[in-house]
Amino acid sequence: AHDVVRHPAGELAIDGLSVQQLAEEFGSPLFVLSEADFRRRAREFRNAFDEAFAELGGGVDVYYAGKSFLCTEVARWVMDEGLRLDTCSGGELLVAQRAGVPGVKLGLHGNNKSDAEIRRALDLGVGRIVADSLPEIQRIESIAAASGRIAKVMLRLTPGVHAHTHEFIATAHEDQKFGLSLAGSDGPSPAEQAVLAATAAEHIELLGIHCHIGSQIFESEGFAVAAQRLLGFSAKMKSRHGVELGELDLGGGYGIAYTEADNPRPTAEIAREMAAVVAEECTRLALPAPRISIEPGRAIVGPSTFTLYRVGTVKTVVVDGAAGPAERRYLSVDGGMSDNPRPVLYDADYSAVLANRASSAAPVLSRVVGKHCESGDIVVRDAYLPGDVRAGDLLAVPATGAYCWVLASNYNYLPRPAVVAVRDGAARVIVRAETEEDLLSRDPGA
Ligand code: LLP
Repeated sequence: AHDVVRHPAGELAIDGLSVQQLAEEFGSPLFVLSEADFRRRAREFRNAFDEAFAELGGGVDVYYAGKSFLCTEVARWVMDEGLRLDTCSGGELLVAQRAGVPGVKLGLHGNNKSDAEIRRALDLGVGRIVADSLPEIQRIESIAAASGRIAKVMLRLTPGVHAHTHEFIATAHEDQKFGLSLAGSDGPSPAEQAVLAATAAEHIELLGIHCHIGSQIFESEGFAVAAQRLLGFSAKMKSRHGVELGELDLGGGYGIAYTEADNPRPTAEIAREMAAVVAEECTRLALPAPRISIEPGRAIVGPSTFTLYRVGTVKTVVVDGAAGPAERRYLSVDGGMSDNPRPVLYDADYSAVLANRASSAAPVLSRVVGKHCESGDIVVRDAYLPGDVRAGDLLAVPATGAYCWVLASNYNYLPRPAVVAVRDGAARVIVRAETEEDLLSRDPGA
């Protein structure tokens, strides 16, 4: 977050609050989220895309992807900043409902939505359900018919773009579970069949088409190719069937910096590039410009948060280095893969800094590890941290806002940490820490 500064005495502070104070008051590990930073990024997406697409004659709807991090407080900030909210389960819909988010501002995703989830979405009057498969279109139709409602539907298509990111977070190539393929070996493609099914369904209003090519993406080429393929598909549907697909959602996936090696491009630049591609394609295909929507999650919440850990055990081992035997120091902290499984899941890189004091000790190659009973329980694989880091020190790991707390587990019966939001020199809990009693409360024999 931009509002983290180091005090002259050497301690990190965010919005005037020292990390020592935060750890003492709220415990550790602790997710510390800057409200101002979150809001700034949310606003930046809205403004940048609105401006870039202004010439095409329409606003842009920015749906914050709640899967990246969600609680009622964050849902309210998202509404305050004029964004909408993308959900992908009944649970996320419930958070939105409790936060008072108007149904029209909500979207529902998912490749295997239950009937109950579809019903909840329709009862809330969601602005759109993004249908993922042909059978789902039939289910939406019959649930909407039974409740006498009209479901607003987008179709999730797979444009066949292979985004350069980790295999498990790339989502638009053919051989994976999401979406309706644009490629048909014989006869109409699944995407075309879906357009026909949705337009024929009496209780479905087909709004448009959607794609999401993956996550933590830096090159804009993938987005551009996806936009071209979807617009090409729109033109085909118009000429073949007279169907106008008025909305085009280009998904989320904008990459952020986890370490100094990552170089994300400014949001405004990406927006301008996407607007240029859409404008050019629409002219070429003689298509009216569609209404655009996007679904960023990570790029809004990721950088707004850091995790505070307290160091416990310190040990040094001798390893084979490129230039002969070298030392590596292991710094064990009081959390780990249960509050941030991303290093284990995706080989994700993070960085760490000594947070509670300054040190002039020479940096030492260190590995920050958790307290779980697995040797793969790594928080930061390689970090150069001062040689005098000791038990009791605090480490801050930046950029843990997205896909950390929401992916957290109770492995080894560790309670999940609290999330505190800081704003104007005050911190408040927006999700409290679990207690051991919370965990035991689901065990009837405990
Ligand atoms: N829209 C759809 C349909 C999505 O599936 C996703 C993310 C997003 C938007 C938001 O993408 P973002 O802007 O946050 O990249 N757990 C993985 C990431 C999974 C992303 C799932 N879908 C990770 O920690 O890297």
